[in-house]
Amino acid sequence: MIKIKNPTPEQLSKAASWLKAGCLVAFPTETVYGIGADASNENAVSRIYSVKGRPSNHPLIIHISSYKQVEKWARDIPDYAIKLAKEFWPGPLTLILKRNKLAKNFVTGGQDNVGLRVPNHLIALMLAKESEKFGIDGIAAPSANRFGAVSPTSAEAVEEELGKYLDEKDLIFDGGQSLIGVESTIVDCLGENPVVLRPGAVSMNMIGAITGLSPSLKPKDSQIRASGLLNSHYSPKAKVILNNTPKPGEGFLALAKVPTPKGAVRLASPSTVVEFCHVLYATLRFADQIGINVISVKLPEAGGLGDAIIDRLNRAKSNY
Ligand code: TXA
Ligand code: MG
Repeated sequence: MIKIKNPTPEQLSKAASWLKAGCLVAFPTETVYGIGADASNENAVSRIYSVKGRPSNHPLIIHISSYKQVEKWARDIPDYAIKLAKEFWPGPLTLILKRNKLAKNFVTGGQDNVGLRVPNHLIALMLAKESEKFGIDGIAAPSANRFGAVSPTSAEAVEEELGKYLDEKDLIFDGGQSLIGVESTIVDCLGENPVVLRPGAVSMNMIGAITGLSPSLKPKDSQIRASGLLNSHYSPKAKVILNNTPKPGEGFLALAKVPTPKGAVRLASPSTVVEFCHVLYATLRFADQIGINVISVKLPEAGGLGDAIIDRLNRAKSNY
């Protein structure tokens, strides 16, 4: 595996040619790092599943360079989805749309729909653009972690998660810390109204304001196959406990305004919810690295990015 920091345009073009040859490329986005393959290459896509240890019926998000690419992958796009794409792309929003012929079963997990996103990161966008020159219409990329583990927000974390599963000619692009720190908002655009399957930086209120519709949150018993929607996910090795006073020696994560309970090990003190998101996954990883067994988190208030934090931590905790 080769690691490249802040790639040049020439290196991005070379990476695109390697994608075409079936290699995997891990790259930064504004949300978390992804592990990408040519979305039309069945062998390369199947390598993503084995490198992640992910069941093959869990669909992948296809990353495209601009809105113009949408109709290659999707059909019968509702007006509200067009409004969302025009407002929030490039950005932390994934749209689930009816698939076009190009989106094969091996990338959609056999579903008749496809997840699409234009990421807001220069490296990701340039990689997608360069790839088009080699006939690649989209890059299938899940978060670059082992199945069920915490998503990586740095190139080091990608290497820690997947390094030993990658081949010689696979690549990791290092573009620094992910700006947002939690995965994109996923919106199911298959019905008359948008349904949020995974909360992220594009909030319910923002979706309502742009579409003029009332988005709903995915019902809890929904059968849709989305691994990030499983009950246990995003889990560090340490046990995660929410809104409980930690015992001495246990890790503690909360907004800066919340004092550290006696004897607890303060892991981070983000001053805003935006910063909380930004440091969340790195903090969970750090706790594992220093051998903390229990991480006690005081959740921020619901609403906006708070919803994304509450969602991920509720899944992180339920392994235990
Ligand atoms: O921010 C993100 O979305 C990151 C970056 C790399 O773009 N990607 C990411 O991918 O989080 P992943 O695969 O780790 O999580 C995407 C979630 C999974 O739970 C997947 O099953 C779901 O989206 N998903 C993808 N396509 C879908 C579809 N057609 N229908 C329902 N869920 C889908
Ligand atoms: Mg993931």
